[in-house]
Amino acid sequence: MRGKILLFAAGLLAALPAFSQSNIKITHGPYLQALHDTGVTIVWTTDSEATGWVELAPDDSTHFYQKERPRFFASSHGFKNISKLHKVTLKGLTPGTAYRYRVYSREVLSHVGAKVLYGDVAATQVYRVAPLRFTTGRPDQKEVIFGVVNDIHGRNDVMEKLLGYLDLKKTDLVFFNGDMANDLRTEDQMFTDFMDTGTKVFAGEVPMYYARGNHETRGQYASPFPDYFPTSTGNLYYLVRRGPICFVVLDCGEDKPDSDIEYSGIVNMDHYRSEQAEWLKEALKRPEYVNAPYKVVICHMPPFGGWHGEGEVAAKFVPLLNDAGAQVMLSGHLHRHMKVAATAGNHKFPVLVNSNNALLRAKADDRKLLIEVVDQQGKVTDSLELHPQK
Ligand SMILES: [Fe+2]
Repeated sequence: MRGKILLFAAGLLAALPAFSQSNIKITHGPYLQALHDTGVTIVWTTDSEATGWVELAPDDSTHFYQKERPRFFASSHGFKNISKLHKVTLKGLTPGTAYRYRVYSREVLSHVGAKVLYGDVAATQVYRVAPLRFTTGRPDQKEVIFGVVNDIHGRNDVMEKLLGYLDLKKTDLVFFNGDMANDLRTEDQMFTDFMDTGTKVFAGEVPMYYARGNHETRGQYASPFPDYFPTSTGNLYYLVRRGPICFVVLDCGEDKPDSDIEYSGIVNMDHYRSEQAEWLKEALKRPEYVNAPYKVVICHMPPFGGWHGEGEVAAKFVPLLNDAGAQVMLSGHLHRHMKVAATAGNHKFPVLVNSNNALLRAKADDRKLLIEVVDQQGKVTDSLELHPQK
């Protein structure tokens, strides 16, 4: 009998920690994606399955705790999502307006029949630290400041140094132009290679937009990658209109032919780029592009270099961009700086290839768009100036 009691007690102890140690944590994020004039998507992860929501407050002088703030849940099909990856899309916001936010996740321990057993709640701090803030775009915004980094390949120290040359209080948006990691093997590696640093430096308050590189297509975690970086189209190619600039963000795909031994038969990039070109043809007719004074293409691989992927960018995307009056393409991939003027038989616009050790820092107003190349010492080593299209 005593043995049975001990066994029972041991069983109780084994069962208890599941409840008493329920201590959910936010593991990565939150960071801003797909911000536009009236909305934004906020993304974060937790170490256990949970529901997630955002509390939103105006950026006024009131304390975040002054009153109950409206809650916006991560949900789909009428249900709150239960996941370790949380994405809340805020809609109907006021253009050109600053908001404060806080994210929450409530652990879900079990869901059997109609009964849901909850654990603890994790949230970002608003007590000792200021709540996170973001500002929506506005159509009449005259001045836009943006930055671009690329080919970081997991070098967080280099990325942090380069981003340090942006005035983040005034920067509207930042682009990651591909190859931020060597490959994607796990969620943790993706975050520790670049995204945790991106979040720490800016992405909780300044929106980040991704142009995928050829290295983000490699590794067993390459296929869930798009789940973490939602866009306005649901694809990794999309338009971003911010004030006078329309950014055309393209996904160059892989650099070698699909049949190359490196891809083990798992990629279908030629077809993907053809599909993307179909989208691009229509996207370049939209008012947000046609009426934009500045037309900037962001594409990791440039349309030259002699490799298969570069040839595909030149053949499938460039003719459409030429016809639609694109003014510049910002690329990376080559790990060296190149400023290539319009080239007969290929691109009718300049291509600025940023090295793996430099930042592009740009400012547009109604007179010009100035793109500066900034090295690791903060020195401006080259620049490109464009003028608005009438
Ligand atoms: Fe690359």
